[in-house]
Amino acid sequence: MSPWLDRQCTFVILVASQLCFLVYYSFGGLQSMVTFLFWGGEPTWDYTKTHDVYTNLSLIQRPISGTQGLPDCPDKSPYLVGPLSIQFDRIPPLAVIQERNPLIQEGGFYTPPNCMPRYRTALIVPHRNRETHLRHFLYYLHPFLQRQQLQYGIYVIHQAGNQTFNRAKLLNVGVKEALRDEEWDCLFLHDVDLIPENDHNLYVCDPQNPKHVSIAMNKFGYRLPYKTYFGGVSAVTPEQYLQMNGFPNEYWGWGGEDDDIATRLQLAGMRISRPPLSLGRYKMIKHKLDSGNEENPRRFDLLFRTRRTWRQDGMNSLSYVTLSRQRLPLFTNITVDIGLGPTRKSQQLPRGKNPKGIETGINRPSGGT
Ligand SMILES: *[C@@H]1O[C@H](CO)[C@@H](O)[C@H](O)[C@H]1NC(C)=O
Ligand SMILES: *[C@@H]1O[C@H](CO)[C@@H](O)[C@H](O)[C@H]1NC(C)=O
Ligand SMILES: *[C@@H]1O[C@H](CO)[C@@H](O)[C@H](O)[C@H]1NC(C)=O
Repeated sequence: MSPWLDRQCTFVILVASQLCFLVYYSFGGLQSMVTFLFWGGEPTWDYTKTHDVYTNLSLIQRPISGTQGLPDCPDKSPYLVGPLSIQFDRIPPLAVIQERNPLIQEGGFYTPPNCMPRYRTALIVPHRNRETHLRHFLYYLHPFLQRQQLQYGIYVIHQAGNQTFNRAKLLNVGVKEALRDEEWDCLFLHDVDLIPENDHNLYVCDPQNPKHVSIAMNKFGYRLPYKTYFGGVSAVTPEQYLQMNGFPNEYWGWGGEDDDIATRLQLAGMRISRPPLSLGRYKMIKHKLDSGNEENPRRFDLLFRTRRTWRQDGMNSLSYVTLSRQRLPLFTNITVDIGLGPTRKSQQLPRGKNPKGIETGINRPSGGT
């Protein structure tokens, strides 16, 4: 071999090994490279193979020896089954739901009978005139949550009267009322018409950031409709909730309040965390836009003002009157008078055409931390 050729060879080997290192480190080391090459990053689920939502539920039973010295619940519940079959053609009667969930205590509370739960989660559901949705919701969510071995409670926050609906304010009320009962680790803010499709979608919080959970809804073709979308189902810890001063009290009617919340959490120095797209899947129960919940014509204006108003309008300015608090067999029903929205006259501001949120990005302030 001539010395010239030898030098060429050494050079090529040198460059090649440099390249190898570069590739290796840009993928973040061997482990993530293996993950990238053989797994594609996200777990995949086959949603054509579904299980009944009551699968395995009868396996969960009280130990004969009582509740003294129960072991901690395992890291991962052995009862989970993955994708679930969900149908809305028949409305389950409350008596049937009760019968199929014998371990639920009055008020809609549950604690695993055979182990010490790792998490305590409160579900907060704003409600009015959606009794049939609520029955579907209870039918699917109770077994779903029990299989996750959580301690949990379901709070339905019922807006009294027929004034304009105010979802965000009802959520503020729900958080306050739920925290009276128990030191919940996590608050799940949940629309009544959304049903999770996979029980590996765990109803626990992300300790760092507010989590938007319903990121893949059938209504939006199982994709996120836009980047800062925060509607449907989200999860915050009580600390995160207070850090952003809760939700705005001044969104009467429908639309925009979830964008305001997304802006708030950025202004409070947090960002949105999300589960993988293949897990955050939800089916929406179809319905007409109900009366008393008209599109909020002021919403673009309010969003623009979030930057100035979020510290004054929220948990620290919340006022309401509790009309009743009932512990029903499957949930706690809290009925509140949250006051009246602005009068019709003061709402005469430019109206945006917008089917639940899709284009609300246009007038949103840029956010930032
Ligand atoms: C739960 O059900 C699934 C599907 O039927 C089954 O594979 C699994 O073993 C069950 N879990 C337990 C703890 O029996
Ligand atoms: C709301 O309810 C009150 C009392 O039941 C009734 O007088 C009023 O007409 C209702 N308003 C609407 C808009 O339905
Ligand atoms: C909750 O309680 C109120 C007041 O008693 C009642 O009008 C409402 O129908 C109840 N909601 C449900 C879903 O049972």
